[in-house]
Amino acid sequence: MFSIFIFLQLIITVTSYIPLNRDEHVASYIDNKIFFLGGETDTQNLTKDFFFLDVSIPFNTSSLPMYDLNSITEIPFNRRASSIVCETVKDAIFVWGGDFGLNSSSPLIFAFNTTAKIWNAANDKGIKPPRRRFSSVVCDKNAKIYILDGTADQNIGNTSTPYSNELDVFYTSQLTWSLGSNLNAPVPHDIGTATLLPNGKIVYIGGSNAFGKYLELTQVFLYDTLKNTWANMNTTGASPTARGFHTAVLTRQGHIVVYGGENAPFIPVPDQLLDLDTNVQPFKWTIPSIGFTPNPAPFRGHTSTLVGNYMIVAFGTILLL
Ligand SMILES: *[C@@H]1O[C@H](CO)[C@@H](O)[C@H](O)[C@H]1NC(C)=O
Ligand SMILES: *[C@@H]1O[C@H](CO)[C@@H](O)[C@H](O)[C@H]1NC(C)=O
Ligand SMILES: *[C@@H]1O[C@H](CO)[C@@H](O)[C@H](O)[C@H]1NC(C)=O
Ligand SMILES: *[C@@H]1O[C@H](CO)[C@@H](O)[C@H](O)[C@H]1NC(C)=O
Ligand SMILES: *[C@@H]1O[C@H](CO)[C@@H](O)[C@H](O)[C@H]1NC(C)=O
Ligand SMILES: *[C@@H]1O[C@H](CO)[C@@H](O)[C@H](O)[C@H]1NC(C)=O
Repeated sequence: MFSIFIFLQLIITVTSYIPLNRDEHVASYIDNKIFFLGGETDTQNLTKDFFFLDVSIPFNTSSLPMYDLNSITEIPFNRRASSIVCETVKDAIFVWGGDFGLNSSSPLIFAFNTTAKIWNAANDKGIKPPRRRFSSVVCDKNAKIYILDGTADQNIGNTSTPYSNELDVFYTSQLTWSLGSNLNAPVPHDIGTATLLPNGKIVYIGGSNAFGKYLELTQVFLYDTLKNTWANMNTTGASPTARGFHTAVLTRQGHIVVYGGENAPFIPVPDQLLDLDTNVQPFKWTIPSIGFTPNPAPFRGHTSTLVGNYMIVAFGTILLL
């Protein structure tokens, strides 16, 4: 009887966690949970809030099964980082770069072990890349993390190269850094997206360059992780609005679903939802019309996570009219 009581108490305590509104956090899907970390809130530029959404059970948005992990966050306050789950690494979330405020000399890569429930700073080897925020990041089948682009400034602790198009490769099993090719790489930018296709090619979409110009979506850049070469591709179909700050997820049917984005600071693009069919050459855009759009909906600083056939959009900035 006593143990049942304790058990119920525990459930009530942990499910009642209601996170603060935020944007520029990270989200990672692993083990039927979406783990959220950091970001900025209405009152704090940097946080280290750590919690997860249990997606193993049905839920609706009026009652979210959120669980608090703040007692085990051993990572500095952060926003604008990137988190990555490698398909072939069963129990780790990697967090790269980001804005750590005065802690900008912190390790470049942290890992959260979802089995042991501990954070580790990677004891990384090789020539360390410069810290950046708003990079585009994926992990391949060999557990190599590809980090492209991003920006640095005094918040990051480095004013020497504000915009980057450096492609850094982090081999998670050796904890070593190396450089990918940047011959024919896209112009230095940030706030774009990277999506890995099953054939080993990374699709880079959108972003914003050093002159504040948002990249066209009618041209995408492809990095072949097997050959370490760049190519660009002019898409067919619709011509979506150029954008940055969008998110991208790959469906099991080989379509990249792009959601959100701005085409001037804090101005949402009119075509918030896009579909890029990667089964055809060249890839083809369509602008789906959906019957229902939540209002207000976030358009920047949100995360999108694919769980089965659902794209779960969390937090972000909304337009206040
Ligand atoms: C947050 O950052 C902005 C500029 O990026 C700055 O003006 C503001 O003072 C910061 N707020 C806090 C609470 O540190
Ligand atoms: C949402 O989920 C809660 C808990 O499962 C349930 O009590 C509530 O009726 C649901 N609301 C709607 C609108 O489905
Ligand atoms: C640096 O990190 C420590 C430990 O997380 C934290 O207490 C401190 O507030 C951080 N400083 C800034 C400026 O984020
Ligand atoms: C996570 O921790 C477990 C238990 O300590 C260990 O067996 C596993 O190898 C760790 N995973 C990684 C990716 O290091
Ligand atoms: C600052 O950026 C430059 C150029 O990207 C890089 O060589 C240098 O290592 C960086 N410094 C730090 C402290 O990260
Ligand atoms: C795509 O179009 C641009 C001009 O709009 C052109 O410079 C570029 O070579 C084209 N790329 C390919 C792969 O055809």
